[in-house]
This record gives sequence, structure tokens and C-alpha cells, in this order.
Amino acid sequence: MYPILPVDPNQKLDHEPLGTKRKFWFRDGERRMLFKAEERGTGEDWAEKIACELCRLLGLPHVRYNLAEESQSRTPGVVCETCAPPPAALVLGNQLLLAIDSSYPADAARRYKVREHTVAAVAEAVRLLQPPPARWMEGVPDGARSALDVFTGYAMLDAWIANQDRHHENWGVLLVERSLHLAPTFDHGASLARNLTDEERQDRLATRDVGRSIGRFVRRARSAFYPDVAAQRPLTTVEAWRAFSGMSSAAGAAWLARLGGISDDTIRGVVEEVPTHRMSQTCRDFTTALLIENRRRLMANEDE
Ligand SMILES: Nc1ncnc2c1ncn2[C@@H]1O[C@H](COP(=O)(O)OP(=O)(O)O)[C@@H](O)[C@H]1O
Ligand SMILES: [Mg+2]
Repeated sequence: MYPILPVDPNQKLDHEPLGTKRKFWFRDGERRMLFKAEERGTGEDWAEKIACELCRLLGLPHVRYNLAEESQSRTPGVVCETCAPPPAALVLGNQLLLAIDSSYPADAARRYKVREHTVAAVAEAVRLLQPPPARWMEGVPDGARSALDVFTGYAMLDAWIANQDRHHENWGVLLVERSLHLAPTFDHGASLARNLTDEERQDRLATRDVGRSIGRFVRRARSAFYPDVAAQRPLTTVEAWRAFSGMSSAAGAAWLARLGGISDDTIRGVVEEVPTHRMSQTCRDFTTALLIENRRRLMANEDE
């Protein structure tokens, strides 16, 4: 079972204003840690933890999350260490895109439906970066060496876990001394269809109606990447993965090989480690089925 780490709100250093949920930074010995509260009951805590374990299995550079609970209020959530301990700094994707193109709509209030967040613009920006610093690269396959190769792995992760939230503040750059590195992947709480009701999950697991099936449901996942600035809709998560892997094909193959090596039992095991009071049995069954179906689709390179 994944441990649930206690977080003492009296250790709070400062609030983190970015993003949507309440969160604060605190000190744990020498480490600067972030607590992200899950107050809405939408499952972002277990989704974040499962995504983190899947990143580890793939070998992706990723922020490590643990389940957590704020003492006194007993608010559930997750904790992670900063990926940019001072003097390093995290610069978010929108600021990098703005630095490259002064007309880029970097306004933090507009995170969704930003048509300028195209695959081409993001790839051009990521190509300017170094890969993540060495300590993050330990698990990365040999075929994925450049920052774009690694980012292609993030796009595959997003398609696997149905992460629709890779907007321009959910990827970034580590500024270390004077070099710019791709940051490890972070913020996967809005994935795995975590906010469905158990009633809908049960229905989709049991149905004989193909239209209601999980196979049909998972095809609806949309990324936050646009094919071009005139497009009406963002790409699906699988289309976005294909677009990035098309630019980085050896890396795409290396990431797919990693995914292909992860068995159904391993996936089930990752999900089963979530404590039962944080995730119902229906939710576990549905989440496992979603991951198995998305892995199958990615490996089969199926058309949408
Ligand atoms: N591990 C981390 N290291 C450094 N900064 C972080 C880390 N996690 C989050 N942040 C900062 O906090 C912001 C919000 O966190 P995020 O995980 O994206 O939460 P939300 O789900 O609310 O968007 C991020 O955009 C980033 O600026
Ligand atoms: Mg975020």
C-alpha cells in the first residue's frame, strides 16, 4: 500500500498561487516540499500517485508524488519536492513561448483553448532546451536523448493516462545556472478520467452497448495541443503523441518499447496499491481497464 504522509500546516512557508487547487510549500529538513490539497473529492490525489508510478515504470523524468494528509483538518492530497531547488528556477511553458514569440498569449488566466499552443510552436521551443539535468535522466531509454525526445515521452504518457491537462503551465523549463533544461513532467492529477462517478464507471465496465464501452470512451480524450492556430479543436491525446513522435521517431519507438514491456498485472498492481479508502473497487477496475485499453491502442497504432 502506498504510504500516506502527514503534513503539518504549521510548517507552511508560503502559498503557491499558480494552478487551481489550494496548495502550500513547507520545509522538510533541507527539502522544499509542496502539498496539493484534494478538497473537491475528484480523485486528483490517486490519479497523481498512479501517474507518478507509471512515469517511474516508463523511465520518464518526473516529479515524485506521495499521497498525503494534512493533519488537524485531515484533508487528503499529495506532496512532492520542488524540482527547482534554489538557485535553480522553474519557468513555465507559456513564458518560454512568449520569449520566442512576443505575440504568444501567455496570460495565466487563459490556460485552456489556447490555439497558439500548437505542436509546432511547442516543439520549436523544446528544441531550444537541453534535456533534463542528469539526475532526472537515469531511467530514460538510450533512444531518447534530446529534450524533444523526452517531451515525446510526456506526450505518450498523456495518451496512456488520458491526461487532457498538458496546457502551457503544465510543462516547463529548469533554469540551472545559465542553462535551460526541459523540466521533469508534473501535474497529472487531471488524468485517468478521475472525476467520473462510480455509477458511470460501473455502467461502462458492464455495458454491451459498444457506444458506452471503455474502448469508445477513451477515444474522446483531448490534449491541450492544437494542430495549427486556425483549428477549431485540439488534437486528441493520441494524435498529439503521433505528432510529437513523428518528429522524434527513434525516441517514439524507444518509448513505445517501454510501454509494451509493462504487463496488465503490473498495471493492476500499481492501481491496487492505492489505499481502499481513497479509491473504490469500481474505480480501480475502471482505471485498470482504461490503462490497458490505452496501452493497446498505442501499441497497435490504431486510427481514431
Ligand atoms: N515539484 C514542483 N517543483 C517546482 N514547482 C512546482 C512543483 N509542482 C508544482 N509547482 C508549481 O506550482 C504550480 C501549480 O502546481 P500544479 O502541480 O501544476 O497544480 P495544479 O493542479 O493546481 O495546476 C506549477 O505550475 C508550478 O509553478
Ligand atoms: Mg498545473
